[in-house]
Amino acid sequence: MLNANAQAASAVEVESGSSRFIRACLRQPVDRTPVWFLRQAGRYMPEYMAVRKHHSLLDICRTPEIAAEVTITAAERLGVDAAIIFADLLLPFTPMGLDFEFVAGEGPQVHTPVRSLEQVEALRTDRADELGYVARAIEKVSAHFAGPRADGDTLGIIGFCGAPFTLASYMIEGGSSRNYIDTKKMMYSGGRAWPLLMEKLITVLVAFATQQVEAGADVIQIFDSWAGALSVTDYREYCLPATTELVQRVRALGVPVIYFGVDTASMLPAMRETGADVLGLDWRIPLSEGWKAVGPGCGVQGNLDPITLFAPQDVLKARVDEVLREAAGRSGHIFNLGHGIVPGTPVENVIEVVKWVKEFAL
Ligand code: CP3
Repeated sequence: MLNANAQAASAVEVESGSSRFIRACLRQPVDRTPVWFLRQAGRYMPEYMAVRKHHSLLDICRTPEIAAEVTITAAERLGVDAAIIFADLLLPFTPMGLDFEFVAGEGPQVHTPVRSLEQVEALRTDRADELGYVARAIEKVSAHFAGPRADGDTLGIIGFCGAPFTLASYMIEGGSSRNYIDTKKMMYSGGRAWPLLMEKLITVLVAFATQQVEAGADVIQIFDSWAGALSVTDYREYCLPATTELVQRVRALGVPVIYFGVDTASMLPAMRETGADVLGLDWRIPLSEGWKAVGPGCGVQGNLDPITLFAPQDVLKARVDEVLREAAGRSGHIFNLGHGIVPGTPVENVIEVVKWVKEFAL
């Protein structure tokens, strides 16, 4: 059952797709399954590491020329159907007034984690304009990929942002977490801090997504990477309303929304209630089972285990074929991994997967 919000969201008119990637997001028929990869421009790629030698991660994100170049290089090298803008989930923290850095080998670290109502109250929501460098990078990528490619299809351009829960977890824990104790303490406290934090994140994320869509993003992916840390009850009570509002307000911009999380097999029906056009599936659930849990009227993206990219090619090909057979050619499937490509992944295997998806016939 869709809730009232999701029904309202499904009434949002999203334009008909001009590329097979956008068409698949809208569950329209396509000539073949579109393919792209989570984290397709990361550290496994020598071209990225060459740029990374001279620039920090945040410098790359904040310099539109470099972010665009990294985005374009990855998409062209792999031959995928969509380019995800090179950026990071945590960029909105800076205009909100939270300092953070990426510490080599340890991931992101927020200098003063947000643990009290006073700290939530101090977060700014009026400076999202400062994130304009992401939109400038999207404009460059969009100009580069304007018009059809050799196969007659236009490459899709994906903008993205974090979901309220996943971003809140980084703000509150101060970095990656195992048990999300402080995040859940704030959630369960029943005080004003959690709802206010959700509200402030929505304000900034809607502004950020709007900039990206105006700059040429065809689709917005919302990463709720760590939503799987929640029970279905807690997800519904503390996260679904805020996420639904974000999804609806982004859809109202006229673009499809892909909503992605990891370890979410039990949560798919609840995630579906956000009204997202497509849900990202991780690899723990067979794709057909995941799609059944999602129900009709929603596409799915996924869901090859990213570590199969390290397997011998015959094993890898069998797994790719399995995902495609599970999807059975139904409209609304986008081939992807169940989570991001990890450092050390052989680039040639990623390129082979793209070829196999393109050649696959049921
Ligand atoms: O194609 C792409 O790779 C797009 C760019 C992209 C980055 N981050 C750049 C990046 C995307 C889509 C993200 C999203 C992101 N950022 C997520 C959600 C995606 C997911 O996998 O679930 C999350 C949780 C973050 C926060 C973040 N950024 C973490 C936890 C880390 C450290 C990870 C690690 O392995 O060290 C980052 C750093 C980061 N963001 C890197 C890249 C390429 C690697 C570090 C580097 O280049 O120095």
